[in-house]
Amino acid sequence: MRTPLIAGNWKMNGSRSQTKALLHGITSGLQEDTGVEILVLPVFVYLEEARHLLSQTSIQLGAQDLYPGGSGAYTGEVSGHMLKDVGCGYVLVGHSERRTLFHEGLPLVAAKFKAAVEAGLKPILCVGETKQQRENGATETVIREQIESVIEVAGIGAFHDAVIAYEPVWAIGTGLTATPEQAQAVHLTIREQIAQNHVDMAKRIRILYGGSMKADNAAALLAQSDIDGGLIGGAALDANSFLAICEAAVQKVI
Ligand code: 13P
Repeated sequence: MRTPLIAGNWKMNGSRSQTKALLHGITSGLQEDTGVEILVLPVFVYLEEARHLLSQTSIQLGAQDLYPGGSGAYTGEVSGHMLKDVGCGYVLVGHSERRTLFHEGLPLVAAKFKAAVEAGLKPILCVGETKQQRENGATETVIREQIESVIEVAGIGAFHDAVIAYEPVWAIGTGLTATPEQAQAVHLTIREQIAQNHVDMAKRIRILYGGSMKADNAAALLAQSDIDGGLIGGAALDANSFLAICEAAVQKVI
């Protein structure tokens, strides 16, 4: 049984006081010991504050990106070791906004994944197709390449504690959601690809769905056998919405 994971990607939102208020809302409303793992991914500069506020809770902390270097002359960047040092357990790698807005190609994403593992962080590798790619029937090819390029650089062993997030680009922040059947089909393909490299890894790896997951569609998505949780953007910025999605995930455990 894979432990469901609900992760809130806060992207570049909020302020110090909003970070505090949101964490307060989540921690005060969250049921403990439900068997669902909860993770928040605040903005870099608020990680320390978040760590402090989460210290007495089971909520995990993660970052939205890292740079694949140790330390040195990389102005503006943050390494995996630094993230670990401020209490992060997870880090996003290859989010579609990084791939498109910041032109991160397959080699850089793979290097980031490898660096995250080497720093003792659990990478959440984000993959997904654009609307055009889906319409061209290229969904599987695109995702296969996004995963294969990481396996080539980091090795399948590096996926031991990793998570994969399927985020169809056309569903991110658009209000459009993959249907539970569409999402399940892609999740199954991803699991089969991992199985071709390592059967046990495929059984244990958690594959999250992301892309306009909200309180009212979470239960149907999470009911699918290969959807092990959610990577939530917009709805993670409202404590009640996020808590409702966490609640929906509890049904997977029962
Ligand atoms: P939305 O939930 O706002 O669509 O964002 C999804 C996402 O990109 C999470 O990483």
